[in-house]
Amino acid sequence: MSRLCHTLFCAVLLASPAAAQNLDSLLGRMTLAEKLGQLNLLSANGQASPQQLQLVRAGKLGGLFNVIGAENTTPVQRVAVTESRLKIPLLFGLDVIHGYRTIFPIPLGEASSFDPDAAEATARAAGQEAAAFGINWTYAPMVDIARDPRWGRIAEGSGEDPYLGSLLAAARVRGFQQTIFATAKHFAGYGAAEAGREYNETEISQRTMREIYLPPFKAAVDAGVASLMSAFNDIAGVPASGNAWLTDTVLRREWGFTGFVVSDWTSVAELINHGVAGSRAEAGRRGLMAGVDMDMQSSIYVDSLAALVRSNRIPLRVVDSAVMRILRAKKRLGLFRDPYRAHTAPPNAELRALARRVAGESIVLLKNERSPLPLDPNAGTIAVIGPLADNKEEPLGPWHTQGQASDVVTVLQGVKSKVVAGTQVVYAQGSGIEDSATAGFAEAVAAARQAKVAILVLGERGDMSGEAASRSSLGLPGVQEQLLEAVAATGTPVVLVLMNGRPLILEWAWDHVPAIVETWFLGVEAGNATADVLFGAVNPSGRLPVTFPRVLGQIPLYYNHRNTGRPPDPNNKYTSKYIDVPVTPRYPFGFGLSYTTFSYSNLKLSAARARVADTVTATVTVTNAGNREGTDVVQLYVRDEVASLSRPVRELKAFRRVALRPAESRTVELRIAVRDLWFYGLDMKRVVEPGTFRVFVGPSSAEGLEASFECIP
Ligand code: NOJ
Repeated sequence: MSRLCHTLFCAVLLASPAAAQNLDSLLGRMTLAEKLGQLNLLSANGQASPQQLQLVRAGKLGGLFNVIGAENTTPVQRVAVTESRLKIPLLFGLDVIHGYRTIFPIPLGEASSFDPDAAEATARAAGQEAAAFGINWTYAPMVDIARDPRWGRIAEGSGEDPYLGSLLAAARVRGFQQTIFATAKHFAGYGAAEAGREYNETEISQRTMREIYLPPFKAAVDAGVASLMSAFNDIAGVPASGNAWLTDTVLRREWGFTGFVVSDWTSVAELINHGVAGSRAEAGRRGLMAGVDMDMQSSIYVDSLAALVRSNRIPLRVVDSAVMRILRAKKRLGLFRDPYRAHTAPPNAELRALARRVAGESIVLLKNERSPLPLDPNAGTIAVIGPLADNKEEPLGPWHTQGQASDVVTVLQGVKSKVVAGTQVVYAQGSGIEDSATAGFAEAVAAARQAKVAILVLGERGDMSGEAASRSSLGLPGVQEQLLEAVAATGTPVVLVLMNGRPLILEWAWDHVPAIVETWFLGVEAGNATADVLFGAVNPSGRLPVTFPRVLGQIPLYYNHRNTGRPPDPNNKYTSKYIDVPVTPRYPFGFGLSYTTFSYSNLKLSAARARVADTVTATVTVTNAGNREGTDVVQLYVRDEVASLSRPVRELKAFRRVALRPAESRTVELRIAVRDLWFYGLDMKRVVEPGTFRVFVGPSSAEGLEASFECIP
């Protein structure tokens, strides 16, 4: 059975010859207007408008998105399948990014778990919940690699690494597609926006595109993703929503993708602003000819392309192919059999338990100098301070669909639920998230003075990351930094809990605050999961999926960079570095602490020499050297020492979460399939070159034991 056949769509796929015949005959009965109608996708505002219903009746809509609730999708679907001439059912789309009503951690947070099973589980749950409310298609997962934390959408992806990103992309596709269609977006290179400025141009070499930005899309395609969304950005002058190299040559011809491509919101019309089309019709022609099948929100295909088809400027077969891709998708989803697809959501208690568990795994302990954490629930008065401490809205993050603030457990609530009778919890907001007012400081300082420990919950508003949320400075907004300093000045030990959608740059805090916990935006169970970690019920195991720079001027900073001809050398001025700041990050990719410590020894490779078809197994002994149970993420990186091209100093190739009891040692195996050590050679063909590969196994991208093997021809 094919790899695609692991979801409910399997049976339909296997039935494809008969299905294809039916669809051919359906296509044969369609007018040109009806064909272009299938390629048209519009956003509703909760409910379909009367005009949109009219379009459905006339067969001029292939799908709607942002229709919320089965009580709203069902009547529209009824119009489609009973009142339109050909009775073709509609797709109902929605941005179910990290939950429908039950909001899970933002994808960047969840990526910190280095746990594809967790990502699959939350995507499955989100898909099931969305399906119960009439949705059959999500615009997720976002699989854009992001190397620039100024770019707000970094929150929605899996960070900077193509290997981790690929595993999570495939896991999320599998999870969603248990019930609804997924969309891998934004194809491609959107995360490379220059200067981190949203929607900006990109300059990506074909090699970097293929080695860094495309692998997560390929992984999504291999996992059977139903659709891809074309991006807003241009790549070296060629907009992604009119880029035949991407959507035809690579996606369809090289990868064999048989699903459909939907544009991003008006990205076909925006070809005019890009300056590659002089009219709406020309923009539509460019988009469709490039392989963008469905036009989101521009209405260009349905309004402006018929004349071009009639005059043969767009061959009818191009329209027919696009229509067939949409019809096949609808068939694959089962819409012709069951247009309403009634589903029940998993029980609430199950969803909440999953949300809490995955949120706990997503937390990264950045600093714990002299171990102020975990806190003692019996330690006396605890102050909980900050604009995010009792905030129910922001933990939902940037894309919270139907998430409700009332469902959120705040950090204050979580802390209160942990302390034992007799321990007092005092709360002071201190300031707003972005306020310039310091009037609340006095109350916060007084709360800290009477406490044994002060937990400060600081960070960003949920919508300061996500779409159209690029930032030019990455400090704490407003007066939060001053609030932190004022509280720290009391002498009461401070625990800083960060809530944010991107790496922040907190120079003062990194140096002066003894305990720092990165919680991202954790969703509805934010407060419980944070308190689980603060009080040690959960030993933190999250690892950074993205590099934290020291200062803004280092951006872009990522672990899998090339060596340069003059790698940094502190004793040689004329090497690649800065004169005013170290070249290294503040916290490297893969970094995260635990309440226990892990030691690594005895790294061995199964072979000193291997051929491309072979697998080399690395074994390493990992020991829990502390006195608490904990989970480590054992990471394996590879470096191609000498190649025909300069290769990254390290590339993640394997990792494993390993749970260890105190004093327990385990031999951990990590496999390297030599064929996965490919890159694009001088001739732009994929190649694994013979030679030495250095292998690093350790707890982050900046550490590790080393060994090496020879790849032989
Ligand atoms: C624009 C965003 O870029 C995309 O990610 C999203 O799916 C669409 N809007 C639809 O809401």
